[in-house]
Amino acid sequence: MPEFSRRRLPLIGHSGGSRDAMTCLYRCGNACDHPAPNESDNPYLGDVVNASMSRRGVMRAGAAGALVLGLSGTAAATAVPATAAPAGPALAGQGKPPAGGKAGAISFKPIPPNTLDSLVVPNGYDSSVVIRWGDPVVPGAPEFELDKQTAKRQSMQFGYNNDFVGVLPFEDDRALLVVNHEYTNENLMFPGFTTLDALSVEQIKVAMAAHGLSVVEIERVGRTGEWRPVEGRRLRYNKRITALETVFKLTGPVAGSAAVKTAADSKGQWVIGTLNNCAGGVTPWGTVLSGEENFNQYFVGGDGVAEADKPRLARYGISTTARYPSDSRKWDRAQERFDLAKHPNEANRFGWIVEVDPFDPEAPPRKHTAMGRFKHEGANVIVAKSGHVVAYMGDDERFDYLYKFVSEKKYRPGDRRHNLTLLESGTLYVAQVTGDSPAAEIDGTGKLPSDGAFDGTGKWIKLVSGNRSFVPGMTAADVLTWTRQAGDAVKATKMDRPEDVQPSLRTGKIYAAMTNNTNRAVGTNPGVDEANPRANNKHGHIFEITEDKGDHTGESFTWTLPIVCGDPAAADTYFGGYDKTAVSPISCPDNVAFDSAGNLWISTDGNALGTNDGLFATPIEGSERGHLRQFLTVPRGAETCGPFITEDDKSVFVAVQHPGEISGASVDKPASTWPDGDYAKPSVVVSWRLDGRPIGS
Ligand code: FEO
Ligand code: CA
Ligand code: CA
Repeated sequence: MPEFSRRRLPLIGHSGGSRDAMTCLYRCGNACDHPAPNESDNPYLGDVVNASMSRRGVMRAGAAGALVLGLSGTAAATAVPATAAPAGPALAGQGKPPAGGKAGAISFKPIPPNTLDSLVVPNGYDSSVVIRWGDPVVPGAPEFELDKQTAKRQSMQFGYNNDFVGVLPFEDDRALLVVNHEYTNENLMFPGFTTLDALSVEQIKVAMAAHGLSVVEIERVGRTGEWRPVEGRRLRYNKRITALETVFKLTGPVAGSAAVKTAADSKGQWVIGTLNNCAGGVTPWGTVLSGEENFNQYFVGGDGVAEADKPRLARYGISTTARYPSDSRKWDRAQERFDLAKHPNEANRFGWIVEVDPFDPEAPPRKHTAMGRFKHEGANVIVAKSGHVVAYMGDDERFDYLYKFVSEKKYRPGDRRHNLTLLESGTLYVAQVTGDSPAAEIDGTGKLPSDGAFDGTGKWIKLVSGNRSFVPGMTAADVLTWTRQAGDAVKATKMDRPEDVQPSLRTGKIYAAMTNNTNRAVGTNPGVDEANPRANNKHGHIFEITEDKGDHTGESFTWTLPIVCGDPAAADTYFGGYDKTAVSPISCPDNVAFDSAGNLWISTDGNALGTNDGLFATPIEGSERGHLRQFLTVPRGAETCGPFITEDDKSVFVAVQHPGEISGASVDKPASTWPDGDYAKPSVVVSWRLDGRPIGS
């Protein structure tokens, strides 16, 4: 594949409330209306004895000094020849000054919160739609026609509800844009929509084809930060991956195990489709990771499985009492495999981290079972000092857990064939965290404890390594298939919906978005703890991890909450100690990303402050830590996904997901007409500075 040699070192980037009722139904299957599926009696943080408080200061100093960039530091980054396989964010920008300015520099004037039906960027910036739902992707794809959609047409066009955005560059001004399509809003897709039951089988298949991922070759517009799809030449990489018919290979210890064998796949090796792909990440070897998240809502017939299997399904949010839960998508009408009463193992084939090689369109995408099965938000990797690859991951459910995976083998710069195997075997850990302040000082109001910080220590508890289980009573395949139960068994810490988790390649610290948890300390639900310190947590917070001694393969860390979200005027918010009168309001952090200066970018989902979701940026080191400013807002009803900032800091990509997703809306009577003035279309947008300079300068 000669074009491999033309790829240059990758861009740094993404990896990665008050929702409307329609969002709850279509995206999560009304997850918030159900009891949180974690009914385990493992203690939450407040119950865990604080055993290692005194070590904290020492660990902090060690980590700060280490500046853990491992072999992916400056030397390694510059040593990788341009002819090598594409590298990813773990190689990009590390240790070398960003193209735009110094760390911590953010110069844009924040935009005010608003409820406009448009995409708003700061003065001096512009934005454009890169690609929208229905735009042609695969060569020969038909133009989109709302009244003529078929599964075949949709399988060649850009899918619905774009989420993760990755931009993998070539050496010239082209790149591959890789995007997740998490779910569908049938009422906003099909004219005359009444109910899901009334959809035709073909329409269900259209929805299945609108799920998955898209790979699209894009090019820079002139010398600006704007990008657009390449047209008029052979598009060898453009591809759609769907829930309908794309075949995935299972790798790792669960492949071939009894839990994933079905009538259609008696050897448990191949899966058709991917479901609810939410966030993700770009690897140093130029592939994309994609998290299968709320897969539960696609299955019916959970009431008909063997009694012994029901607790396992229930822990993942699959109803075991009704054939058709009220929020069911009823895809069994199109494909019988979604009926668990007939195919009880089919659900076990979803909930994995998917790896896609966009530079090899013929290679089957893979589901890596060694990374565990849960409602994966996404996965972001860093190369540890030892050379092992470490992936950080969140399980996006109220009271669920944070995980990390450490590869068995080491990363080899330039050896792409080898690096493509790194996520197939390794060690999976779950986080248990402890606060360092007296429990009595964590009163649920968000008031800082007397030591001035929500902070403490943590342990990575080993669940499985290779084919060896560390959880009594569970085999390695059990642990990896029923990872939530394994986390319960080892008393992992129940968190406030861990979404995107991403290491900073500048400092080695890891940042996790805890979106919200309005069940925290409500009724019989678990109470507050120092890592999840607010009762009825409507606005969420950011969780910062510093691995002890800067060792990403280690088993202990310190943590702190640099940002406790909400209205800065409210007493229960915290912005790194920065003057709160100078920061933007933020609610429900979901995806995180970094620019090459190391600033933390945060996109939101479900702004409980009543205005549109958006994208924010803040320095996260030094005196400007916590000086959070709003960079953009998305149109009505939408959530801000992505984001991805290019290595030269000249382009900020976001995915505008579910515009117009407001109760009562339909494609015939849209609540948003963005972006084209007719009806709402989920779209990927790029924003850039009009003067052509990097964002931070
Ligand atoms: Fe799909 Fe956790 O958001
Ligand atoms: Ca504390
Ligand atoms: Ca998300």
